[in-house]
Amino acid sequence: MSTLRDHTPNSPSQGPFRDRSEPRFPGGPVADPAGSHHERRIRSFQPRRSRVTTGQEEALKRLWPLWGLEIDGQRVIDPRELFDGLPVVLEIGFGMGEATARMAAADPGTGILAVDVHTPGQGNLLNLADRDGLTNVRVANGDAIILLREMLAPGSLDGVRVYFPDPWPKKRHHKRRLIQPEFLTLAARRMRPGAVLHCATDWEPYAEQMLEVLSAHPDFENTQEDGGFAPRPAFRPLTRFEGQGLQKGHVVRDLLFRRVERTDGEG
Ligand SMILES: C[S@@+](CC[C@H](N)C(=O)[O-])C[C@H]1O[C@@H](n2cnc3c(N)ncnc32)[C@H](O)[C@@H]1O
Repeated sequence: MSTLRDHTPNSPSQGPFRDRSEPRFPGGPVADPAGSHHERRIRSFQPRRSRVTTGQEEALKRLWPLWGLEIDGQRVIDPRELFDGLPVVLEIGFGMGEATARMAAADPGTGILAVDVHTPGQGNLLNLADRDGLTNVRVANGDAIILLREMLAPGSLDGVRVYFPDPWPKKRHHKRRLIQPEFLTLAARRMRPGAVLHCATDWEPYAEQMLEVLSAHPDFENTQEDGGFAPRPAFRPLTRFEGQGLQKGHVVRDLLFRRVERTDGEG
């Protein structure tokens, strides 16, 4: 199994006056490893301080050096090398990771590179992978945009999953939504032709926006002949966020768009 980071644990400056950029857990993920807050860019997430349980903390210390990837923007990787050559799907915003672990268990022939900024979720997913003996999950810490833009080789992804991205319902926050034309252009460049981008949301206006921008994007084509939403694929388990949406009576939409090969020399 690949070791993803070369981190020197217990650096002398750790302790009560630890630098903010250093790991909170020995050998574990660091806060905003790429320093992306220095960029003048609207981000799709809000940094939040959430409590890390003892079990999650233990998993971060023990398993991060084996299965963790820091999004530091410093090197380009072929993600297949993290999984001994398996095809790789990127899951952006896995939350607490329950659905990720279930999909990895059901499809051991695919590597899942799961990215989120949320430390408790990272610990939780590492614990689930360990408990279930999964060898096809890696956990990336940081902003998915930096991962895509700076670190993943062109055409290296066999799929991208974005399940229940933050809906940012207020109009003034719409610019924070992940699924925008610029994001699609970036994701498409990292996907091989034929790879599928799978989005799901329970927020109807966002679902409509996704359908509009995806349908208009030259790098993607709808897998649905009628040009509409897709039936929920059997491989996508119920996610935590989805469950909350369903309890509120929301309608869930899936969108499955294929990366097309451009003949105009673009993309
Ligand atoms: C609403 S939650 C959904 C979580 C999970 N997919 C589910 O359905 O339960 C969205 C998640 O996306 C993460 N996220 C948002 N923007 C991100 C980005 N640019 N890079 C990495 N994670 C991001 C958030 O931290 C959050 O955990």
